[in-house]
Amino acid sequence: MTEPEEPCCFDEWQERYARRSRKKGTAGSVTASLLADLESAGLSGRTLLDVGCGVGDLAVEAVLRGATGASGIDMSTTAIDEARRLSRERGVADRTEFQVGDGARVELQPHDVVVLNRVFCCYPDVGALLANSVSAAASVYAFSIPPSSGLAGGFVRAQTALSNVWYRIRESQFHGFRAFVHDVDAIDRRVRDAGFRPVAQRRRRFTWHLAVYARA
Ligand SMILES: C[S@@+](CC[C@H](N)C(=O)[O-])C[C@H]1O[C@@H](n2cnc3c(N)ncnc32)[C@H](O)[C@@H]1O
Repeated sequence: MTEPEEPCCFDEWQERYARRSRKKGTAGSVTASLLADLESAGLSGRTLLDVGCGVGDLAVEAVLRGATGASGIDMSTTAIDEARRLSRERGVADRTEFQVGDGARVELQPHDVVVLNRVFCCYPDVGALLANSVSAAASVYAFSIPPSSGLAGGFVRAQTALSNVWYRIRESQFHGFRAFVHDVDAIDRRVRDAGFRPVAQRRRRFTWHLAVYARA
């Protein structure tokens, strides 16, 4: 896998994610919900690839819940260092592997389950990230993403616009990072076109849409 050329804005945030995952089990509360949906779709005895894995909490937990192995890829070197540390701490280092790379650009190895948890909203080229990741999914494809329509979509758009003003003001800290509200219906159509059918779709904490698909 290739190394991203730029330093990653997310390096700054990984320490907070790592602290939270040690305290609460997962870096985001939505992660626990997505893990539960993945278990229902079938995690046991399968391999999992977490694209934009952050500190690796989902991948590590997937193995603890019965996945035979898990891989994670993230653009942030700090995230991958934390993920390797977490996998050692939780005794699954022999069944996990973590790599620095851009999940939209590197060749992803096929896995039974591919997941993108809170990742599409951090990346501008949703089409490339979706196409590259969905083609690596043998059985299950899943993601969490901010909603783009309705009341929640309006709220998320306003929140994202304000956040981006802040990121622009603090350019040197955030290295040009911007958040994105991508069209969830368009993503849904593309996942279905790739041969998947939805098995779970739900809203968590108003601002997260969770979707799990199985190969039709
Ligand atoms: C909001 S964090 C979420 C991390 C983790 N999935 C979680 O839910 O705790 C977004 C992560 O996605 C990573 N990321 C964004 N776009 C990516 C891409 N194209 N390839 C790999 N990692 C990416 C960032 O570096 C960051 O660690």
